Amino acid sequence: MKSYASLTERKPWLAWLLFLLTIGVVFLLGLLASSILERRAEAAYVNVPKNEISEFEPRNEVWGENYPREYQSYIQTADTLFKSKYNGNAMIDMLEVDPRLVVLWAGYGFAKDYNQGRGHYYAISDLHESLRTGAPKTATDGPMPSTCWTCKSPDVPRIMDERGIAQFYTDKWAELGPEMVNSIGCADCHEPKTMNLTVTRPALIEAFERQGKDIKKASYQEMRSLVCAQCHVEYYFNKNVVEGANYLTFPWDKGMSVEAMEKYYDEIKFKDWTHALSKAPMLKAQHPGYEMYMKGIHAQRGVSCADCHMPYKSEGGQKFTDHKMQSPLNNIANSCQVCHREEAATLALNVYERQDQIIENRDKLEELLVHAHVEAKKAWDLGATEPQMENILTGIRHAQWRWDYAAASHGGSFHAPTETSRVIATGITIAQETRIELARLLASLGHNKPVPYPDIATKAKAQEFIGLDVEKLQKEKNEFMKTVVPKWLEEAEKREASYDQTTSMK
Ligand code: HEC
Ligand code: HEC
Ligand code: HEC
Ligand code: HEC
Repeated sequence: MKSYASLTERKPWLAWLLFLLTIGVVFLLGLLASSILERRAEAAYVNVPKNEISEFEPRNEVWGENYPREYQSYIQTADTLFKSKYNGNAMIDMLEVDPRLVVLWAGYGFAKDYNQGRGHYYAISDLHESLRTGAPKTATDGPMPSTCWTCKSPDVPRIMDERGIAQFYTDKWAELGPEMVNSIGCADCHEPKTMNLTVTRPALIEAFERQGKDIKKASYQEMRSLVCAQCHVEYYFNKNVVEGANYLTFPWDKGMSVEAMEKYYDEIKFKDWTHALSKAPMLKAQHPGYEMYMKGIHAQRGVSCADCHMPYKSEGGQKFTDHKMQSPLNNIANSCQVCHREEAATLALNVYERQDQIIENRDKLEELLVHAHVEAKKAWDLGATEPQMENILTGIRHAQWRWDYAAASHGGSFHAPTETSRVIATGITIAQETRIELARLLASLGHNKPVPYPDIATKAKAQEFIGLDVEKLQKEKNEFMKTVVPKWLEEAEKREASYDQTTSMK
């Protein structure tokens, strides 16, 4: 090999070339370093808090002055434009889409009104407007307890601190109307001094404690799901914790599977309501989203809720967490393609295929359940006795619990497709076995033909079939929206105006 010196002696321009190249590289490196320093300086500048946020500050806009990017992305949960095949940001009237639900929930509030959830921005106003919360005229009026506010507002930790947790769960829903005005937000998930993620809802902390676990020991990555598990979970109102209180409790003591929770409820003989047609002691699954997600491959590989629903976003060189929690299909590039190399269309198709496959059997199970409820009613009408009906009613309870568990674990068909299918399949088996027993009982009571399937082609027809006067409910609700809600908001505005003098340092 020739030496460098002899090479440059013969070709002097080569030395000049190397010299210039070196200068170029050094210059570019310098540019890069300066840009990094500049971004760092920007980041430091952006993160200088403007206000000192007090411990229970419920107002998202006050936090937003310190963290404008996170706040602005949070505000975008108000967007209702995106629609995926089955979900998306818009409110969907599920009783209209699927009137069978009205019959499955006969005798319970959900038969009046059930919409598929939309953005966090709407949590308070949607609760005001839901027919399920009724039209209370006074603080002690109305069908719902105060516990219903628990997953709606950063005013919850504030009132729990002021009045005590048990008292929070003891009042009527209307009692807290003037207090609950800020929709799901910063104080639900963040500790104001450090901005660390935190669990603010006692039910989750207590459920961990009863399982012998300390939630404070959860890892950083686990916290990126546990903040969601404060609300996107199965729960019930436990009347045996504190006298007079509807104490919010997660039924996880025997485990977090559909069977373990069923066993938990069966052992304490808990029911949410008695079905208006079949008289079965029913369970209403709330939204076991976290529990179902835990059974899926993403959870098992350590992917958190925030990885898909709150991906990182860049704006002016600043990287931050997108707080527009929504269907990740509206943002596949940041949500999925960080880990997967497939095309966006392929990834969306992967989601839709799983949803289609599961919905096929879910609908079948719904139909079987409608049959079972009307057949059980027929049996009662023909004089069936309680001992004759006991097994049948347990069958209906268990089959519908499984259907509801799968249907209400929003996103479950993608989060854990095999588990969701399994839950529906066991529901179908139980429903079929129950209907065989029902057919035998009906025959022994002298009825040897099929019981006709009701005409429930629309929401209105289904509500008429179960004898629900929705028009009356809607009229009362309109009155409530016109007279009571404005007073709540006015009272809240006065209270919040008084915070400004004491808490923020503007
Ligand atoms: C304080 C309770 C609470 C917490 C905490 C919470 N959610 Fe929600 N979430 C809700 C409620 C209530 C709704 C339905 C709001 C409505 O429809 O008015 C909802 C709706 C949603 C939706 C549907 C939005 C749409 O556009 O369809 C998604 C997605 C979602 N949440 C994801 C998350 C994720 C991810 C987390 C954790 C990072 C989380 N949520 C934390 C209560 C909560
Ligand atoms: C449902 C829970 C939830 C709510 C509500 C929420 N955040 Fe966050 N926030 C998160 C998660 C999860 C992260 C990511 C944390 C991490 O991995 O470091 C985060 C990160 C942040 C960060 C750190 C910087 C960044 O962007 O990653 C700031 C600042 C922040 N949030 C501000 C806010 C503000 C302001 C609000 C209210 C407008 C808010 N958050 C509401 C869950 C939440
Ligand atoms: C943080 C990384 C990460 C993100 C974000 C992520 N995935 Fe995955 N995904 C994984 C891992 C890990 C697996 C398991 C594959 C394995 O271990 O071989 C997986 C598996 C899958 C599978 C096959 C599992 C099944 O259900 O049969 C599909 C489909 C999938 N992901 C789609 C998506 C979609 C769609 C999104 C966005 C909404 C997404 N993933 C977001 C990491 C991720
Ligand atoms: C691997 C990515 C991924 C993870 C992890 C994940 N999700 Fe999802 N989630 C999705 C996808 C994809 C959908 C389906 C969206 C659609 O159909 O438009 C979805 C749907 C949802 C929905 C219904 C959304 C709607 O528009 O109505 C909610 C609520 C939800 N997820 C909450 C959660 C919670 C809470 C966690 C953690 C316990 C979680 N997700 C974990 C990808 C993910």
